[in-house]
Amino acid sequence: PTPDGWRRVDAYLASTLVEEDAALRRAVADQDAAGLPSIEVAPLNGKLLNLLVRICGARRVLEIGTLGAYSTIWLARALPADGHVVTIEAEPRNAHVARVNVDRAGVGDRVEIRVGRGAEVLPDLEGSEPFDLVFIDADKESNTIYLDWAARLGRPGTVVVVDNIGRSGAVANPATEDPQIIGVQRGLEMLARDPRFDATALQTLDAKGWDGVAIALVV
Ligand code: DHB
Ligand code: MG
Repeated sequence: PTPDGWRRVDAYLASTLVEEDAALRRAVADQDAAGLPSIEVAPLNGKLLNLLVRICGARRVLEIGTLGAYSTIWLARALPADGHVVTIEAEPRNAHVARVNVDRAGVGDRVEIRVGRGAEVLPDLEGSEPFDLVFIDADKESNTIYLDWAARLGRPGTVVVVDNIGRSGAVANPATEDPQIIGVQRGLEMLARDPRFDATALQTLDAKGWDGVAIALVV
């Protein structure tokens, strides 16, 4: 096997298992054209999110970190007709790109984009029906804040997915001074210690490189 044989495996798995339609491809193309960073989830991970929504029968999904809505489209397309995604995006420019992308993908009526920083927008969601699945994919420094809100806005049985827990291996460096890596580590420690969660994490090697996802259950 070649050192980067995993790239070939990723391409093979994605081409075998993941069907991206024109709207998903256009969402990425328009995001790139608008100058947004190319940090959307890999196609196989988009499909994972889609399957998790269906596996847990989610009707209400919360996403923290919309970017250009590539993952939002995968989430929204998994929902039943009366399902709903609330997605939070701090950058108004990103939110505009995301709006066009979800509308073009045919899920505009199921997606509500809230513009603002998570810590400011999340309290507004209190008192609504609990979310069935929460996807955390925003500023990593705030992961513990987002996990706290995921538990508060969820219910026992809510599935929580945290993106980017591997960070090219940096997560395993206890001496790191990178605030994003420290944020990821604090989030994982919270998942381990906070009695509201039970969790695991998987490393991933995919189109986006070496990273990973944590998957948690609110207990
Ligand atoms: C970054 C953020 C992400 O959510 C991601 O999937 C990849 C990279 C980043 O901030 O560098
Ligand atoms: Mg991410």
